[in-house]
Amino acid sequence: MRRMRQLGRPDRVGISWRPEFAAGILAHLEEIDVVEVLIEPHLSTSRRQRQALQFLVRQVPVVFHGVSLGLASSFAVEARRLDAIARFLDSLRAEAWSEHFAFVRAGGIEIGHLAAPPRAEWSVDATLQNLHRLVRTVGRMPALENVATLIEPPGSTLGESQWIGAIVRQSAAPLLLDLHNLACNACNGGLDVTQLLAHWPLEAVTTLHLSGGRLIGEPARYARHVGAQRMLDDHRHDVSPAVLGLLAQVRARVVQPLDVIIERDGNFPAFEQMRAQLRAARAALRAGRALPAPPAPAGAHHREVSDELAVV
Ligand SMILES: [Fe+2]
Repeated sequence: MRRMRQLGRPDRVGISWRPEFAAGILAHLEEIDVVEVLIEPHLSTSRRQRQALQFLVRQVPVVFHGVSLGLASSFAVEARRLDAIARFLDSLRAEAWSEHFAFVRAGGIEIGHLAAPPRAEWSVDATLQNLHRLVRTVGRMPALENVATLIEPPGSTLGESQWIGAIVRQSAAPLLLDLHNLACNACNGGLDVTQLLAHWPLEAVTTLHLSGGRLIGEPARYARHVGAQRMLDDHRHDVSPAVLGLLAQVRARVVQPLDVIIERDGNFPAFEQMRAQLRAARAALRAGRALPAPPAPAGAHHREVSDELAVV
């Protein structure tokens, strides 16, 4: 295992592009291995703005991140959105891109949120159909990201790792594992995040997201759910030691090279604070490399759904 790690390319640590960080990123490119750029804000920009993006692509490895397709839906992903993304990725000769295990619209109504779908056999099939449509148009599979949810999606009959594992195995899609989303869902479901991690298809992970959120009170209407508090994935806080610990655990469990991206969407700190988090992520990767790889639990990918749904 150690040998395979050494033969692969090194892990990369980077940050999601936000205008608030532009100066900080460009001033510290020697500390940033990769930058993740949202696709949608750039789909209808001016020629000058597109040139600015092309300038960034020439300065640092860039990967792209989409939020609008709504792939985990029984509604067919819209052809015009796929066409626009295909043209965008081709025009920038994109190295890699990602999207979400989420639905974002239904019946002509935009939710304005990356919502977790009911996790069931029918939504596995519907997501696979959308991925098939996507690959036909775009020509390449995105890495797919797990989303945070405050409640177990109503109508679910599968646990999250089981649901995602089924889609990843059948589509051969890479996995973008957002460790804060994973931690949020564990907290909100009253589950042990380390135990959950052992059941995810980590061999498919190419990219990890790190971010921060906050605890909020338990809404009375959800009082029957386990846990007195819920974790909100607001991307307005620093990466926690707990999430960095998960990063080390993932690094210890897999052999493939990883991209690690820190996300921040508000309450923007001085860039020095982001640099400190980049260093903390590198330290967690080093710590993970020094850990022995734990054995996979028996039946890791065939666990009964009741394990995860017992709390709802
Ligand atoms: Fe994320």
